[in-house]
Amino acid sequence: MSKFIRIGPKGYSAPKEYEKYAASIYNMPLRPRDTVVATYQRSGTTMTQELVWLIAKDFDFETAKSTLLTQRYQFVEMPMFIDDEAKKVVEKQFTGEKAEEMFKIFEMLPVEILAKTPDPRFIKTHVPLSLLPPNLLDTTKVVYVARDPRDVAVSSYHHAKLFVPIGLYSDFKQFWNMFINGLFTFTPYFEHIKEAWEKRHHPNLLFLFYEDLKKDLPSNIRRIAKFLGKEPSEEQILGLCDHMKIDNFKNNKAVNFEDMRVCGLLAEGERFIRQGKSGGWRDYFDEEMTKQAESWIIENLRDTDLRFPSMQDIQI
Ligand code: A3P
Repeated sequence: MSKFIRIGPKGYSAPKEYEKYAASIYNMPLRPRDTVVATYQRSGTTMTQELVWLIAKDFDFETAKSTLLTQRYQFVEMPMFIDDEAKKVVEKQFTGEKAEEMFKIFEMLPVEILAKTPDPRFIKTHVPLSLLPPNLLDTTKVVYVARDPRDVAVSSYHHAKLFVPIGLYSDFKQFWNMFINGLFTFTPYFEHIKEAWEKRHHPNLLFLFYEDLKKDLPSNIRRIAKFLGKEPSEEQILGLCDHMKIDNFKNNKAVNFEDMRVCGLLAEGERFIRQGKSGGWRDYFDEEMTKQAESWIIENLRDTDLRFPSMQDIQI
C-alpha cells in the first residue's frame, strides 16, 4: 500500500499523493448551482450520486444510462490514487498510443475540468468537510451520506481488494484494526461523520443515512427532491426506485465501474457494486471484533447526539 500522511488538526490519514492536490481542492472555486455528494467512502456515494443527478436532471434516465457517472461527476481527489503503482498496472495493459491516451486522461485534474464545466456541475468527494473550501456550504448544496462503520469497513476491505494498485494483502481482521486505529484513508472515521453531523441544520446540507435509503427509498427521494427544489411525480419516484434496485445497478454499465476492467485495474472476483445490504458485517466479525466495535462506537458517540439507525442494539 502507498505511504500515508496526516492532514489538518484532526489528523486525517491520506495517501502521500494527496499532498499534491490538497491546496487546489481546499481552494477550488465553487458556484451556487453546484451540487456536491460528500461521504466517507463506501457509504452509498454512487447510489446517492445517481439519485441526485437524476432528480436534478428531471429524471433523464436515457442520458443517465448512456453517460458514465464518472463523466457526469468530477471526483475531486481522484488523482491521489494515481500513484506509480497504478501507472505500472496500466503500463502492463497498454502500449504505444493507447498508453499515452490513458496517461493523458490521468493527467487531467478534476478541479481543472470543473473550471471548464458549464452549470450545473456535480461533484463527488470523500474529503472531510474541513479539508474542502471553507465557503462550501455558503455557496453550494451538499448531500452527505453516512453508513454504519462496520459495513463501511467490510465494503472498504473489498474495495481495497478490487483495486489492484492498492495492493492490500491483509485479512479482514487486520484491515479492521487499521480502520479503527485511523490508519486508513480519511480516517478517523467518526471525525469525518461528526463534522457533517454538526452542520446538519445548515440549509445547504442534507444529511442522510445509507440504512434509511435502503429502508425507505421513496421518502428519501422526496427529501432529496425537496432539498434540490424539485417536485417529482409519484410515477417518477417509482421509476427511480426501480432504476436503483441493486440488481439493476450491478448491471448498469454507467455506474458499475466495469469499464475500468480493461485497464487491468480491477481484480478478478471483486466488483464495485457488491451486495448493497445493511448489516452484512455480521458475516465478517467474530465475537472479539463485535465487542471491540461496540466499545469503539460507544467511545466515539458518547459526546454527541449522532445516532445511526442501525445501532439500536448498542447502549450509548
Ligand atoms: P457493499 O460493498 O456493502 O455492497 P460507495 O458508492 O460509497 O462506494 O458505496 C458502495 C456501497 O454501496 C457498496 O456496498 C455497494 O454495493 C452499495 N450500493 C451501490 N449501489 C447500491 C444500490 N443501488 N442500492 C444499495 N446499495 C448500493
